[in-house]
Amino acid sequence: MKKVLILFAHPAFHKSRINKKLVEGIHKIEGVTFNNLYENYPDFFIDVKKEQRLLVQHDVIVWHHPFYWYSCPSLLKEWIDLVLEHNFAYGTHGRALEGKTAISVISSGGRKEVYSQKGANHFTINQFLAPFVQTANLCRMNYLPPFVVHGSHKILPDELTSYQKKYIKLISALQDDSLIIRSIGENTYINESL
Ligand SMILES: Cc1cc2nc3c(=O)[nH]c(=O)nc-3n(C[C@H](O)[C@H](O)[C@H](O)COP(=O)(O)O)c2cc1C
Repeated sequence: MKKVLILFAHPAFHKSRINKKLVEGIHKIEGVTFNNLYENYPDFFIDVKKEQRLLVQHDVIVWHHPFYWYSCPSLLKEWIDLVLEHNFAYGTHGRALEGKTAISVISSGGRKEVYSQKGANHFTINQFLAPFVQTANLCRMNYLPPFVVHGSHKILPDELTSYQKKYIKLISALQDDSLIIRSIGENTYINESL
């Protein structure tokens, strides 16, 4: 069984609807470590050594957050800046993350249609996630297509429940390495392979 580390970053979790529901589904699954960054580090003083130890102890790293300004909330960026140190995560002697799997799990206010060249946001979600892809590449990790929940403001309860089930399915497939990715492309989400 692969060990899964969820790095969850939501600055206003008490107001969350989408991620609250997603988290309810997965945070107590055996073999999953749920690391709530804003709860653990409300003043942004990240325990770098502790976070590095956690990374070493897990096989799959999940960056789970709402999409904020086409990226992640600031504490997750701070986590990346501090924890993924030279000669730990990358560089000649930085092989701690080699061969691990990384994936982004995100919710966005915008619908999928607005995330296209001709749509209001001009770029696809996968294009916006390029820094995460290349961070994983630099750290010699395998980055999977993201799990995306679109249109979060208007999502209906049934749809949300279905996303919750899909997220549980994703975690379980990552744990037992049974995930078969059906297609790889600029617009591909892992959702389609679940
Ligand atoms: C500061 C801020 C920035 C946001 N930026 C984006 C964005 O760039 N693109 C987008 O589609 N939605 C954006 N949103 C909407 C959030 O992604 C959306 O509210 C969230 O995914 C809903 O999840 P929740 O119910 O768990 O809070 C933003 C929201 C906030 C508060």
